[in-house]
Amino acid sequence: MSDRKATHIPGFDELVGGGFADGTINLITGPPGSAKSLFGIHYLVNGAHMDDEVGIYLTLEESRESILRAAKGFSIDLESLEKDGKLFIVDLGKMRMECTSSEELEWGLASFDTLNDFLKNHLSFSSATRLVLDSVTAVGLYYKSTELLRRELFKFARLLKTSGLTSLMISELTSDGETRYGIEEFVADSMIKLDYESSSGEYRRTLTVKKMRFTKHDPLKHPFLVMDTGIEVSPDEVIG
Ligand SMILES: Nc1ncnc2c1ncn2[C@@H]1O[C@H](COP(=O)(O)OP(=O)(O)OP(=O)(O)O)[C@@H](O)[C@H]1O
Ligand SMILES: [Mg+2]
Repeated sequence: MSDRKATHIPGFDELVGGGFADGTINLITGPPGSAKSLFGIHYLVNGAHMDDEVGIYLTLEESRESILRAAKGFSIDLESLEKDGKLFIVDLGKMRMECTSSEELEWGLASFDTLNDFLKNHLSFSSATRLVLDSVTAVGLYYKSTELLRRELFKFARLLKTSGLTSLMISELTSDGETRYGIEEFVADSMIKLDYESSSGEYRRTLTVKKMRFTKHDPLKHPFLVMDTGIEVSPDEVIG
């Protein structure tokens, strides 16, 4: 049996030795609109369809309805996967039961503690093996100091790695090309950068594997397309 989780995104897995190593945390970074959420949806949907694995999509950035609608644009029916128990889409902004503080209630924020409690509870009845957190940037808004955020993120990352889940953490990049809090990349085992560039009137989406522990990965920048059916990476084409 493989010790990796394939994304089954055409052209991607071969860049990273077949997929994400089991039990790792993988950062999917990029500026707004760079297809981070779409990448996360593919990871779970393909895992369910092709590998019969159960996935959890924790969304704080967008509502559940917005995620369903975006997927529909690619002819992906998330609700039928939910009905089959293969996928759980959880709107953290609406999660009230597990709330531990007034900030969460008032502002629709979520702390790492809340996420952790939720996951522990979930894993006691589901057999989920794949997780997407969309986004770690949004969870970070809960914390008033970077110091506290840093501590809580490290703690959460440690727990995630022992939970049996192979996780994608979606993280926004600022216009300087840095992660919002400057610490997200340190807790992650890998970092995938999605981006776009336009030169001489040509607009191209790009994907680069910036780091990946336990893996001999391709470090080059590759173009990818967002087609009607979703993301397609060109592993043989290199930019720059
Ligand atoms: N049906 C479609 N066909 C082709 N491209 C599409 C289709 N629907 C959306 N797109 C494009 O796919 C991209 C996917 O965006 P996605 O929401 O995954 O990006 P994101 O990086 O998560 O953005 P954000 O930072 O705003 O959350 C959009 O920028 C849009 O241009
Ligand atoms: Mg998104």
